[in-house]
Amino acid sequence: MSSQIIPVEPFDYVVFGGNGDLAERKLLPALYHRDRDGQLPADARIIGASRTFFSDETYRSFARGAIKAHVRQEDIEPQALDRFLARLHYREIDARSEQGWDELKTFLDEAPDRIRAFYLAVGPGLFGDLACRISEHGLSNPKTRLVVEKPVGRDLASARELNDTIGRHFSEDQVFRIDHYLGKETVQNLMALRFANALYEPVWNSTHIDHVQITVAESVGLEGRAGYYDQAGALRDMVQNHIVQLMCLVALEPPSAMNADALRDEKLKVLRALRPIDESNVEQLTVRGQYKAGASAGGAVKGYLDDLGEADSDTETFVAIKAEIGNWRWAGVPFYLRTGKRLSERMSEIVVTFRPIPHSIFDRTAGNVVQNQLVLRLQPNEGVRQWLMIKDPGPGGMRLRHVPLDMSFAESFRVRNPDAYERLLMDVIRGNQTLFMRRDEVEAAWEWVDPILKAWEAKGVKPQGYTAGTWGPSSGVALIERDGRTWHEPD
Ligand code: BG6
Repeated sequence: MSSQIIPVEPFDYVVFGGNGDLAERKLLPALYHRDRDGQLPADARIIGASRTFFSDETYRSFARGAIKAHVRQEDIEPQALDRFLARLHYREIDARSEQGWDELKTFLDEAPDRIRAFYLAVGPGLFGDLACRISEHGLSNPKTRLVVEKPVGRDLASARELNDTIGRHFSEDQVFRIDHYLGKETVQNLMALRFANALYEPVWNSTHIDHVQITVAESVGLEGRAGYYDQAGALRDMVQNHIVQLMCLVALEPPSAMNADALRDEKLKVLRALRPIDESNVEQLTVRGQYKAGASAGGAVKGYLDDLGEADSDTETFVAIKAEIGNWRWAGVPFYLRTGKRLSERMSEIVVTFRPIPHSIFDRTAGNVVQNQLVLRLQPNEGVRQWLMIKDPGPGGMRLRHVPLDMSFAESFRVRNPDAYERLLMDVIRGNQTLFMRRDEVEAAWEWVDPILKAWEAKGVKPQGYTAGTWGPSSGVALIERDGRTWHEPD
């Protein structure tokens, strides 16, 4: 079974930070895949831009290395790779001076009518400068899109300021604030599951759902991003965007259509209904952690401070939160959220636990009736499992068994699972903003996160140490166990 490939219109994709980490690991491999699958028109161009001096040829060999390192061997087809590399160009450019802008304009003006996408794969400090210069140097045409990576701001005030700066030069329908979690297959499947089946929606509420867990666990540490990460921490890096977005998709009301504004309007309502966490409840509802030396992937690893090369830092590398959504559908249903670096394994999932049956007709010999759970596994081994109770087959007495109805994507569909960026990069060209964050959403997420940051500071809540390779500090476990529940054990 193969998915349908719909070619996109001709475009020029300018990637600022074209020789950076994101371009190397994600953007170039994603564009290669789309090209290999026949989605890019013959004359589409990809232009890497940064301050480094590179010729087109050096950039092509950089890209060749990126693809060899980050694309599975069986997906590298020499002819497709050569065709892809021939699309690549490079322009040396400085976000903070006039250098290189006229040359880039001349190059883009060779094809004045095509779609122009500018991808800001740079540090957040340059987003505003680049947006201004793209516009002031006349690089923008009516078909321009601006792709903004995270983080959009480091708090509400700075997010507003950045959005204002961008808004002075680009209209909201040109701005694509990317959250790559929204492009993950399972996340989109959550929409299909909820809204393309009659089964779930009637029970998708506090009458039938006991609680929801969202875990985004990473086994990696800082990966050379110490400078950024120590300023951010897990709450800003993962919760304000990825995890909050996942929570919105679980919780939103059915939108009238799967289009950008309908979906984003509903997400916004969830964000606005989040119960505030502030000085009055931050210690009961949140946990901060920081990893210490331990073992990960079988080897000894350093603690956060050693990775950072500093004697001291209060940045959290783990956070757990008990969130609540104050509306009719969700009142009283906790959403337990957790994320961390250097945890036991790389594992992201959404677990929806249904309420216990009201009365059991089975006697004790049948065994326990376990609550139904829907497990949406984002990574690795993407898939959906609905856990149910059935009768253990065979003669003899009635014995109950807890089994999963399994929909493992890799097994069921036998297709390569595309990386989130493949889909999102093409959505930009198509002008489809459904999986991108609107300005008001980003600001509403900060409105919830800001008071948590302030309350941690005001209350002096320091991160608690946890050994690398575990599931975080014991208080992260206590957060859910206090309520008589446990974190879902990965299968
Ligand atoms: C990024 C964060 O947005 O997401 C990183 O900045 C994190 O710290 C990454 O490692 C995780 O993405 P994924 O797709 O590997 O789960």
